[in-house]
Amino acid sequence: MAYHAKQHYTETQSFVYFIAAIAALCGLLFGFDTGVISGAILFVHKDFALTTAGVEAIVSAVLLGALSGAVLSGRVTDTFGRRSVIIVVAVIFALGSLWTAMAEGPISLGLGRIVVGFAIGIASYTAPLYISEIAPYNVRGMLVSLNQLCITVGIVLSYVVDYAFTASEGWRWMFGMGVFPAIILFVGMLFLPESPRFMILKGKDEKARKTLKKIRGTENIEDEVSDIKETLSHEQGTWSMLFSKRMTPVILIGALLMIFSQADGINTIIYYAPVIFKMSGFEGNAAAILATLGVGIVNVIFTIIALPLFDRWGRRPLLFIGIAAMAISLILLGYAFKAHAHLEILRWVSLGSLILYIAGFAISLGPISWLLASEIFPLGVRGLGMSLVTACNWGSNLIVALTFLTLLEVLGAGHTFWLFGGLSVVTWLFVLFFIPETKGVSLEQIEANIQAGKSTRHLGEH
Ligand code: BGC
Repeated sequence: MAYHAKQHYTETQSFVYFIAAIAALCGLLFGFDTGVISGAILFVHKDFALTTAGVEAIVSAVLLGALSGAVLSGRVTDTFGRRSVIIVVAVIFALGSLWTAMAEGPISLGLGRIVVGFAIGIASYTAPLYISEIAPYNVRGMLVSLNQLCITVGIVLSYVVDYAFTASEGWRWMFGMGVFPAIILFVGMLFLPESPRFMILKGKDEKARKTLKKIRGTENIEDEVSDIKETLSHEQGTWSMLFSKRMTPVILIGALLMIFSQADGINTIIYYAPVIFKMSGFEGNAAAILATLGVGIVNVIFTIIALPLFDRWGRRPLLFIGIAAMAISLILLGYAFKAHAHLEILRWVSLGSLILYIAGFAISLGPISWLLASEIFPLGVRGLGMSLVTACNWGSNLIVALTFLTLLEVLGAGHTFWLFGGLSVVTWLFVLFFIPETKGVSLEQIEANIQAGKSTRHLGEH
C-alpha cells in the first residue's frame, strides 16, 4: 500500500520542537548521571576508604542499573504509554539523585547508583521512541537526535559540576545536582500529550486525532491516522511477534548497530580520557582533565553540526564519514603508541586523534544508533524491540568498561586501539551492507516494507 506521509504536513509546528526539547531532558540526565562519577569517585574513594574492587563496583553500578532498566521496561512502555513512563522515570531520577547525595556508606551509594542507572536505562530509549512517534517524518532525524545532543551536553555539564565542587570535595553535591533536570523533566512532561501513535494502538482514536491536529497545526490529519491504523492489523505486540521470521533481521541490525556503537570504544574515551591523556604524556591531573573537557565540548559541537544533516544528507552518508574518521583516528593513535613515538609527538597525535574520533562518533554512531532503533520497529512492538536493543547497548557498554584497563595491560595501548580500529572497519562494512536509509520516510512506510519482506538494507524505500 502507498503511504501518505508526504501529504501529512508542510510546516513543522513549534509545539513539536517544544515537546522534543522537554523529552530530550532524558538525554541530559543520561549524560549527566553517567559522566558525574568520573569526578565524584575520587572523593568517594577517599571518604569511604574504598578498595579498587569497591571503586569498580560503584563506577559500574550505573551500567548494571541501566541494563536492568532497559531489559525490564519494554512491555511497560507498550502497555502504559511513552509519556507516563517518562514521568515515572523523572521521579526515579530525582529520588535516585537524592539517595546518592545522602548515602551513608558505600553499599547505600552503590544501590543508589543502580537506581539512577535503572532510570537511565529506561529513559535512554523511551525518549527517542516518544520523539520519533511525535515528529513529522521530514525532521524526525533532527528531533530524535536532540536527545543525543542533550546526552553530550549532560556529559559536559557533569564535568563542569565536578570541577565546581572539587575544591570543597563535595561529591554529595555533584550527585545531588541531578535532581534539578529531573524536576524540570517531570513538570514539563505533565504538559505534553501522549504519543498519538500509542493512543491509536490503544484504540483511543479521538484523543489521538485531537493531539495530531494540535501538533501538526492542521485539521487535515486523516491520512496520517489511516496510515497508522493500517499498520495495526499486522500487530500482536507480543514477544512471538517480535521474534517472528520477518522481524529477526530487524532486531539483528538494531542490536548489532548498538553493540558496534559501543564496541568501537566510545566510552573508553568518555570514561577514561584522562587516563589516555596521561599515558600519552600530559602531565598532572589538571591538564588531563582540561583535555577531557575539550573532548566533551567537541562532542557537543559536532553533534550540533550533524543535527540538520540527518534529514538532508541522510543517515548512511553520515555513518560512512563518521565511522571512517573513527577508524582512521584509532589506527593512528594505536600506531603512535606502537611506534613509541617521541612523547611530544605522541601527546599531539593522541589529542588530535581523540578529537577526530569523537567528532566522527558525534556525527554518526552516537545519534544514529538511537535514531535507527526508534525507526525500525513496528508500532505494536516498538517499546519491546527498543528495550531489547537498548539492553544490547548497555550490556556491551558494561563489558567494554570492565575490560578496557585489563586490555591496556594485556595487549598494550597500541594493540588495544588497533582492536577498536579493526572493529570500526567491520562496523563500516556492516553499515554498507545492512543498514537502511530512513531519511524522509514515514514510520508506517518502514513498517509496510518489513511486512512486505524487504531486506533490512531496503527498509527505507518509498
Ligand atoms: C552512547 C553513550 C555515550 C554517548 C557519548 C551515546 O549515544 O550511547 O554510551 O557515552 O553517546 O556521547
